[in-house]
Amino acid sequence: MKIDAIVYTSNTGHTAQYAQMVGVRTGLPVYSAKEAETVLPQGACILYMGWIRASVIAGYREAAARYAIAAIAAVGMGETGGQIDVLRKKNKLAKELPLFTLQGGLLFQKLRGMNAFMINFSRKKAVKILKAERKRSEAQNAMLVMLSKGGSFVQEKHLGALLDWLASQGVTVLEQTPAEENGGENDTKQDPEN
Ligand SMILES: Cc1cc2nc3c(=O)[nH]c(=O)nc-3n(C[C@H](O)[C@H](O)[C@H](O)COP(=O)(O)O)c2cc1C
Repeated sequence: MKIDAIVYTSNTGHTAQYAQMVGVRTGLPVYSAKEAETVLPQGACILYMGWIRASVIAGYREAAARYAIAAIAAVGMGETGGQIDVLRKKNKLAKELPLFTLQGGLLFQKLRGMNAFMINFSRKKAVKILKAERKRSEAQNAMLVMLSKGGSFVQEKHLGALLDWLASQGVTVLEQTPAEENGGENDTKQDPEN
């Protein structure tokens, strides 16, 4: 299946950022779901990227009705590579459909309405659970920072498995340039306790 494009749905920008990064590394055209409606023919083969909201991959159902989905990359606050079983179940994904997860970020100032309410409702409890964890992983520390102060953890290093899979499908994956290696928002060195 030859992948024609990357189509994404992003609320606060992290998924859009990852989609652009994958576009730069592969040369695949990148469209928001809205843009894609006017430029991509129905049935086009795509890598779909969507943000995770209460384990639902935003925009996936609509994208699956319109395009042939080669793979999904879901962006959330959890660990890159995590939540696979939960997401498959919640989004009714066939087990053959490649699914990748990427750690994004939380930008409180950009959240509105129900999204802001839902995060504020659950974050105190989640922070308490994470703080009680005796040995937190780097991803858990990132989540703690996100939930307590907000921040972006979008980083090129999270794209490894997705880029390897794209290469296995015949997509040419360009090497990362030194500028890219040093670039991008990166808050992982933040102290989650401060
Ligand atoms: C209401 C709400 C629910 C969320 N639920 C989840 C979730 O179930 N799992 C997860 O990993 N991240 C969850 N997140 C975090 C977002 O997926 C994360 O902020 C992501 O980076 C947003 O991507 P975007 O900037 O492209 O919109 C949730 C965020 C909000 C606002």
